[in-house]
Amino acid sequence: MKNIVILISGGGSNMAAIVRAAERDRWAERFGARVAAVVSNKAEAGGLALAKARGIATAVVPHQAFPSREAFDAALATEIDAHAPALVVLAGFMRILTPGFVDRYAGRLVNIHPSLLPAFPGLHTHQRAIDAGCKVAGVTVHQVTSELDHGPILAQSVVPVLPGDTAAALAERVLAQEHQLYPRAIAGWLADTLGHSR
Ligand code: GAR
Repeated sequence: MKNIVILISGGGSNMAAIVRAAERDRWAERFGARVAAVVSNKAEAGGLALAKARGIATAVVPHQAFPSREAFDAALATEIDAHAPALVVLAGFMRILTPGFVDRYAGRLVNIHPSLLPAFPGLHTHQRAIDAGCKVAGVTVHQVTSELDHGPILAQSVVPVLPGDTAAALAERVLAQEHQLYPRAIAGWLADTLGHSR
């Protein structure tokens, strides 16, 4: 079985959407793949309870406990590698990763970012899109490189920016699209990389 390890920092709604899709679309049968573990840098991350309830292994690696990014990333990699992952999925994992960590998982590390990259990498994405007068916003799934919110694009969805939108309203509309796009993009990656039909 090919293991997927998902990294979260917060509510974990994208992680939950991926777990649901894996069950609903029978990734184990179709791709020989399963969500093996969910790892968070925050003990209070809401998604951990959901993962546990689904019988998925969970772990917390609290970044504050480490003296440097390198030390944190090394501990994180130890947790991840315990599951020998075919794919590592960043799903709202709000830490900047060291080049060493990115290199270790090169070609099997993906991220979702709530903008149409390369526009608006980083934080406050939705407010920046509104302030720039964008008529559309969206979401991007991409392979991770050592530059924040960059890397080869795997999938995108476009979401309209509506007159009078607030960042919160736009974020909600984008998040609904994220929940569709991320599982689809991962299924595509599994099919292409593991050589199964979609
Ligand atoms: C999502 O909107 C995701 O795209 C964003 O954090 C949110 C996590 O929500 N990620 C980034 O901004 C990464 N640069 P979730 O915890 O409910 O999945």
